[in-house]
Amino acid sequence: MAISEPVARPVAADRTGVKNPYSVLPNWLYPAFVVVALSLFGAYALWVVFFQPLGYVMPYLSPFDSPPITLGRIPPAIWVAWAPLVFRLSCYYYRKAYFRSFFGHPRSCAVPEPKRRYRGETAFPWVFNNFHRFAFYATVVQVGFLWFDAVIAFDFGGRFGVGFGSVLMLANVLLLSGYTFGCHAFRHLAGGDLDCFSCSLAARARHRLWRGVTILNIKHDRWAWASLFTVAATDIYIRLLLAGVLHDPRWVS
Ligand code: FES
Repeated sequence: MAISEPVARPVAADRTGVKNPYSVLPNWLYPAFVVVALSLFGAYALWVVFFQPLGYVMPYLSPFDSPPITLGRIPPAIWVAWAPLVFRLSCYYYRKAYFRSFFGHPRSCAVPEPKRRYRGETAFPWVFNNFHRFAFYATVVQVGFLWFDAVIAFDFGGRFGVGFGSVLMLANVLLLSGYTFGCHAFRHLAGGDLDCFSCSLAARARHRLWRGVTILNIKHDRWAWASLFTVAATDIYIRLLLAGVLHDPRWVS
């Protein structure tokens, strides 16, 4: 007699009263969090990019303005902030999060699409998400500048020191690096098209890189949220210093 495995039934939707078996939290909480957090960050980022001057207080430079490019009256963040913003907008994790949370498109795995003519990311405007890999290249360059800024953030007029801003900038670039180098597209670049991981020196090196990227990639969503928070926090902190609202605690040798 053939013994068959019980077939997992697709979870219909939370409107049917089905509970998420992986979480004790109510079903609405995660999409609500995504909508609120991404809306707030998006609005704040647009305000900084289009309406704010250079976010610089010696020795701190805002991540929105790095590298600093000032040309006439054009806000400096316009030249650089597009890369990390497009990178996040086209990130595989954020795509899942905002498709589900903003559009219910679909609400979850194994839930029917709400629209009849679903064309995924083959039509305007979502087809542009396929350029994620190119946004990755641009963001890697920017992360390099942010590491430079983080080192400079410990230089107080030629003397080594630590300010609260130094710590914030270092934490920010660490989290951004974890997010950027755990990218799914980078993981594919590292080892995606290799048929044999041990057949040559180059293949073995790529395998090691792929394993490293995989470690970061497993918690890609956590890196994404943590780095989003520190980017906003670092910029807000620097702008509050700039406005004279805050005083930076420092320990300078
Ligand atoms: Fe998230 Fe590339 S998939 S940054």
